Amino acid sequence: MRTLDLGCGSNKTEGALGADLTKGSDADVIVNFDQFYYPFKDSSFDHIIFNHVIEHLTNVPQVMEEICRICSPNGILEGESPHFSSSASYTDPTHRHHFSYRTFDFLASPGTSRQGMLRRVLGKFYKLDELKHRPKVVNQFQKIDVRLRFNPLYRRLGIEWLANIYPELYESFFAFIFPARDIVFRLRAVK
Ligand SMILES: C[S@@+](CC[C@H](N)C(=O)[O-])C[C@H]1O[C@@H](n2cnc3c(N)ncnc32)[C@H](O)[C@@H]1O
Repeated sequence: MRTLDLGCGSNKTEGALGADLTKGSDADVIVNFDQFYYPFKDSSFDHIIFNHVIEHLTNVPQVMEEICRICSPNGILEGESPHFSSSASYTDPTHRHHFSYRTFDFLASPGTSRQGMLRRVLGKFYKLDELKHRPKVVNQFQKIDVRLRFNPLYRRLGIEWLANIYPELYESFFAFIFPARDIVFRLRAVK
């Protein structure tokens, strides 16, 4: 298994090749992810880790397309990013984006994920928003899982469970009452 930790910082995953902008980090390769193309061959990694980096980058759809290029067919991209309701999302001035659960509807197709099935069932009862202007990368990744993660208290109270069943409802009405911490995503490269 060839693993790449994109934006590893000082926290590189064991056994992975690390890439980061910062000299003095754990990076084996210094790369600016805002400049294309990255110095890796097509389909070179089966597993790409992308923790707390995407929110720092300028052109998210283009970054995702580039990650798809270096990911092997059926390779896995997994990562996390602060949820827009988390104070960690909006206190760091180097964050260019604040992500919602539904941001991933613009970056990956539902595939056969739990969310895909749930949306199909909900779609029978009420009309879900149609996403009209999705970037082409939506056809290059399929969701395996996208979920909201909360602090341990909200998890114990069942808020995490409910928010992941009704993410649109949660984000529209309750996100700033019970803020989430992170969005955790696992996507499969389709190529
Ligand atoms: C919040 S840290 C996350 C580090 C590590 N992934 C973790 O989870 O602990 C964000 C990392 O993204 C890197 N980064 C930010 N912008 C970048 C860019 N344009 N190109 C490459 N790396 C970048 C930073 O250098 C930093 O190491």
